[in-house]
Amino acid sequence: MAPTHTPVLVREVIEALAVQPGGRYIDCTVGGGGHAIAILENSSPGGQLLGLDADPDAIVVARVRLKAYCETTLLRNENFANLLSIAEEHGFYPVNGILFDLGLSSFQLSSDARGFSFQRESALDMRLSPEQEATAEDIINQLPETELAHLIRTYGEETYSHKIAHRIVEERPIKTTLQLARTIELAVGGRRGKIHPATKTFQALRIVVNRELQYLEAGLEQALGLLGFGGRLVVISYHSLEDRIVKQFTQRESSDCICTPDIPVCICGHKASLSLVNKRVITPTADEVQLNPRSRSAKLRAAERITEWNNPTGVTNGQDSGLAGTMRFSEN
Ligand SMILES: C[S@@+](CC[C@H](N)C(=O)[O-])C[C@H]1O[C@@H](n2cnc3c(N)ncnc32)[C@H](O)[C@@H]1O
Repeated sequence: MAPTHTPVLVREVIEALAVQPGGRYIDCTVGGGGHAIAILENSSPGGQLLGLDADPDAIVVARVRLKAYCETTLLRNENFANLLSIAEEHGFYPVNGILFDLGLSSFQLSSDARGFSFQRESALDMRLSPEQEATAEDIINQLPETELAHLIRTYGEETYSHKIAHRIVEERPIKTTLQLARTIELAVGGRRGKIHPATKTFQALRIVVNRELQYLEAGLEQALGLLGFGGRLVVISYHSLEDRIVKQFTQRESSDCICTPDIPVCICGHKASLSLVNKRVITPTADEVQLNPRSRSAKLRAAERITEWNNPTGVTNGQDSGLAGTMRFSEN
């Protein structure tokens, strides 16, 4: 049976985006199209959606899923680090809402070829896009031990990073996911508790291979520039490193001053352009976690643009995207 991806916090996403008929939305991580279809249904009639995904396979799945909305949906196989230039290319701004549902889909996690799971034998790839050069195998086999330990510590928040890096270097060459998972298990002295000892190292590798944190920072900055007045930014994150970036970004952009506390009088001149929609993060209900265990680590943050839109692209005709009736699924 083909795997399905169950979208997380769908009702909460629609509420946080304040989806309205005729609105214009960007789904930066369209994946299997679950959130996208909910946005399109709730913005009907007249809603428009630009959907991005770095993974070409995800675009293939989303294209099928969103077929009924092909007149008003544009899908692009692109990294959201290029969000601004893609929106500019299509005159798709200002927008009413932008969604980032970070991480991986079930399609990717359950693939036998992508290397994201330590429970399936696969080459150590972990790239979202085949156009990226470095794979997890390159990193595992080429980095010096100290750099490997640093990477595992920083991006996996793994306490045993030195032991793991040492064992990996002893075992090289490491070619497959299961070989790496076994190496890690041996490095930490076997399995304890429910969490597999390879979890954090696999997370670290995935983050580094796909530059997840850098691209998230770039995507958030660009999203802010595309939101119209009252437009909503909604982000679902699945681990503390990405949630910290989202939290710091939304807090900074909703503050009138970002001077360090040791400066008695504001010198930064920073003005808030966002207002937090929810003071606390939104998490799935116990029922949702039971139905979809993958949702258990999800954290949703939402913010609303409170300043007038300034065209970030310098192009002057962005008020009307001219999309209605002209959009088609993109082949690229
Ligand atoms: C959790 S899934 C999204 C699922 C989607 N919301 C749905 O309802 O089916 C995350 C998706 O984001 C994509 N992705 C991760 N980082 C990306 C990036 N920097 N740019 C574009 N897409 C990215 C992944 O390829 C994956 O398909």
